[in-house]
Amino acid sequence: MSKEGEKELLIRVENFGFKYPGTRDWVLQDINLDVHRGDFVSILGESGCGKSTLCRALVGLIPHSLKYCELKGKIHVCDMLTEETPITTISKKVGMVFQDPEAQFMSLKVEDEIVFGLENRGLPEEEITRILNEVSETVGIGGILEKSPFEISGGEKQRVVIGSVLALKPEIIILDEPTSELDPIGRKEILASIGKINQELGITIIYVTHETEEAAYLSNKVALMDQGRFIRQGHPLEVFPDQELFKNIGIRLPQVTELYLELQKRGLQLNDIPYLTLEEAEEDLADIIDSKLREVNSNEQLY
Ligand SMILES: Nc1ncnc2c1ncn2[C@@H]1O[C@H](COP(=O)(O)OP(=O)(O)OP(=O)(O)O)[C@@H](O)[C@H]1O
Ligand SMILES: [Mg+2]
Repeated sequence: MSKEGEKELLIRVENFGFKYPGTRDWVLQDINLDVHRGDFVSILGESGCGKSTLCRALVGLIPHSLKYCELKGKIHVCDMLTEETPITTISKKVGMVFQDPEAQFMSLKVEDEIVFGLENRGLPEEEITRILNEVSETVGIGGILEKSPFEISGGEKQRVVIGSVLALKPEIIILDEPTSELDPIGRKEILASIGKINQELGITIIYVTHETEEAAYLSNKVALMDQGRFIRQGHPLEVFPDQELFKNIGIRLPQVTELYLELQKRGLQLNDIPYLTLEEAEEDLADIIDSKLREVNSNEQLY
């Protein structure tokens, strides 16, 4: 697809609208989205707003796996028009990770989950072993390759699914709320793996979540969805300061961003850039607290 500036355009969604068969309302309307190579785009929105439907459309499950649905507009993915391209062709370029990892397991051993797709593609044995080692390292599953996917933790399960998608070397990976059923440690591990995949391997990521904290860490773009429409897109630093917008669609900002905006309202002189992560807040606030303490100490010495 055409290059815009330095970065190649991989996905272009143009005025896309979608209606499920037999329903009255359009579930998606006027969706426009550009995704460039190497982007990490988070899609944020309340339950039922249409995030999963959009993911299905991006991989071609919509319209190919549904009869009698209605569409408007177009979706281009890696130079393919989804409407006109078989899912099997699209899936060579785009991998998908769903919320429930177990639904994606096909084997009784973790290792087989990773190599299954590679064997299907007829790759030579040495190549399969090389990819298996590489992927295990990236998603941190080297120690569980002999286990059953059904006896490992939720976070490990999800990393196995991500590994099996990664093994097929897609250009884009779409993750639809992959952490929603995990504890905080599992969430952190998944985010670390996805971060590596994006930053070290340069794979483009589309990440669906309710959690602004998760979106804040890695995204260079967030797209806010409300009732089937994108109501705002931009870098988290541009979008997150709009507290009203988030309140209106029932999504909580990261607590550190709320703290920043609250302190700013109270007139505290803060760094111009809002905090998106705890680390940023700690650094800036430590300086402010130090200077306040110095002020208090010097005032005390005057008396
Ligand atoms: N197969 C279907 N047929 C008819 N309506 C559907 C179908 N699947 C989803 N919907 C409806 O489409 C709307 C959007 O659903 P979707 O699953 O895309 O939302 P979501 O943003 O992913 O929600 P969640 O955060 O809960 O996963 C909802 O109103 C849902 O009820
Ligand atoms: Mg969903």
